Amino acid sequence: MVAKNSILILAAGKGTRMKSNLPKPLHAVCGFPILAHILKAAQVLNPAAIGVVIGHGAEQVKQIVLEQKSTWGITAPVEFFVQTELSGSGSAVKAALPFLQKHDNVMILNGDTPLLKAETLERMYADFEAKKAGALVLAVKVPNPFGYGRIVRDAQNQFEKIVEEADADAKTKQIDEINSGMYVFNSAALVRALGQLKPQGPKHEYYLTDTLSLIKQAGQPAVVFTTQDYTQALGVNSRAQLAEAAQIMRARINQYHMDNGVTLINPQDTYIDAGVQIGADTVIASGCYLLGNTQIGSNCTLESSVYINNSIIHNDVTLKLGTYIEESEVAETCQLGPYAHLRPKSVLKKGAKVGNFSEIKKAVIGEGSKVNHLSYIGDTQMGAGVNVGAGTITCNYDGKNKHTTVIEDHVFVGSNVNFVAPVTVHEYAKIGAGSTITKEVAAQGLAIARSRQVVLEKKGVKKEHD
Ligand code: UD1
Ligand code: CA
Repeated sequence: MVAKNSILILAAGKGTRMKSNLPKPLHAVCGFPILAHILKAAQVLNPAAIGVVIGHGAEQVKQIVLEQKSTWGITAPVEFFVQTELSGSGSAVKAALPFLQKHDNVMILNGDTPLLKAETLERMYADFEAKKAGALVLAVKVPNPFGYGRIVRDAQNQFEKIVEEADADAKTKQIDEINSGMYVFNSAALVRALGQLKPQGPKHEYYLTDTLSLIKQAGQPAVVFTTQDYTQALGVNSRAQLAEAAQIMRARINQYHMDNGVTLINPQDTYIDAGVQIGADTVIASGCYLLGNTQIGSNCTLESSVYINNSIIHNDVTLKLGTYIEESEVAETCQLGPYAHLRPKSVLKKGAKVGNFSEIKKAVIGEGSKVNHLSYIGDTQMGAGVNVGAGTITCNYDGKNKHTTVIEDHVFVGSNVNFVAPVTVHEYAKIGAGSTITKEVAAQGLAIARSRQVVLEKKGVKKEHD
């Protein structure tokens, strides 16, 4: 049986206007590459296969897709086709001829429209089939059509042709209905039309857009499918359009979370990536960044300017102003900040506190333990109920290797203590303020490791005017 309903994404173009070393499909919008958003929407249609035409930065694009596709939830087989000569969207499709030959119908998507919606793609396919079309194009009316191909309709208001900006006369430029760069084709009709393409425009490119009028001329219907939500068609060609796309996607993401019971104090200034999950009744103040695959529980409070990347925050956590969390996990009812920093692989157990200007790296802070002031705790296993005094430092690095500090349950650490790792402090021990601990401390022991105070008598002090 011949497989149906497959999707081909054109991602070979140079993306010249981005002025970037990074291939355009890999530029991020709300935490995912543009291409990932398109693949994710494509996946929703459960296609038999997804083809990706690569060219500029081909190896890099292919590598990222292969590495990440499972984390993006792409289960359809992905096939790559290399376009060697970057001479337009029509030649990009020609590079994927074997893909067209395998599938009866194919949906083609530009690789630079991250705001497309799967539901629209589904409706396009349904309309294509209902109308027994040879080709279908998604068109939208936009406030500023500059730069897009215009949909030219005939006297019966039916599709006639698409005219690119560079080839449009003054009258055509007035048309505000544009080609979104999303299509469905009958593969056989498309293959025939591709064979008839002639180079067009100032850059002598083969336009995919010309195939629609060729298919119509060959006697098969070429139809226009429209949608009101024109934001879906925004093509990212420049950094300004990248920012615009991100802004629109952010608004959608924020709306989604508010609909799910999350309070955003100032949604215009809250930056939540597409992969983030947030529980109900969490309140998020202005200027927060929640990035990557971060998960936040319910009933949490995030004060201003909290930054969280790829981390898990459980329920009822308070993150005060300026807290910065990377690749870490924070259990229920913990409190962090103001200005706390969790570096990767830190774990805070239930009810732990990390406060003012404290830095935690690759450390476990046990249940109810407190590191409240001006401390650095790295490569540390800390038990429950530990109190760490202000200015405590784990000296975890000897210039070559990192070493572990172990602080067992209920240890009391006075202020301004250094732990020279590797070192273990057993449960219920106390460490005197100002100590530099280099040796194991027994359970319930009291360790004081500082020089005695000496008070020299005031003598022989020369007065200035003797
Ligand atoms: C294209 C359409 C235009 C439409 C607009 C929607 C054509 C000729 N024009 O214009 O009608 O309004 O998209 O956003 O298609 N590509 C390749 N190989 C190439 C050239 C391009 O794979 O040699 C890919 C690009 O990576 C991109 C897509 O095709 O994903 C469109 O190319 P782009 O240069 O962005 O076309 P536009 O000028 O935006
Ligand atoms: Ca484009």
